[in-house]
Amino acid sequence: MMTDRHITQAMLDELRACVKGMMSEKRYVHTCAVERMVVRLGELYCPDLVPELRAAALLHDITKEETLENQLQLCEKFDIILESTARLAPKTLHARTAAALIPEKFPSFATETVVRAVRWHTTGCQDMHIADKLVYLADYIDDSRKFADCVRLREIFWGADPAAMDETARLSHLRDVLILSFDMTIRGLLEDGVPISLDSILARDCLLLERSQR
Ligand SMILES: [Fe+2]
Ligand SMILES: [Fe+2]
Repeated sequence: MMTDRHITQAMLDELRACVKGMMSEKRYVHTCAVERMVVRLGELYCPDLVPELRAAALLHDITKEETLENQLQLCEKFDIILESTARLAPKTLHARTAAALIPEKFPSFATETVVRAVRWHTTGCQDMHIADKLVYLADYIDDSRKFADCVRLREIFWGADPAAMDETARLSHLRDVLILSFDMTIRGLLEDGVPISLDSILARDCLLLERSQR
């Protein structure tokens, strides 16, 4: 997999046009909103990664609208081993299938940073990298989202004026907002009576541990 980064504005514009053809208008509007949000977050936390963050945002939901049957076929094709509860949480499959498709369909964007961020955008994971965190959060709080939890989290994140913070405070703020997002997601899953991804538990545990070690 590529590790160097040569993602240009022209490449991103071409990618945006390409993913538009792979999804509904509604999903495309969301995808572009995630791209804009991840640029704002990237400028605060890791300006060097902004081109890869944008690529990950554009690619994160490319398989979201595939049928369950197609998702499962893609899993088989890419040797993705599913745990027994995967069929009970079909919404999480698209993160795995999208990440698996990138090296084949979009090799010029297949950096480790991009593929990881797409892979973990739904559940989070243990020891999330900064790009994973920012794509995950941008997907949660993009401006097209109207759900109460999303609106609340967006207000909590930006309301604290992270741009005015020093680097340590800004990272702590990100960590605290992510913990809150996992709390809200896990609570929602409990209410719906559906499985909770172990990756989300591990993601939250890692962040809690980090907070306790300050
Ligand atoms: Fe998604
Ligand atoms: Fe999304």
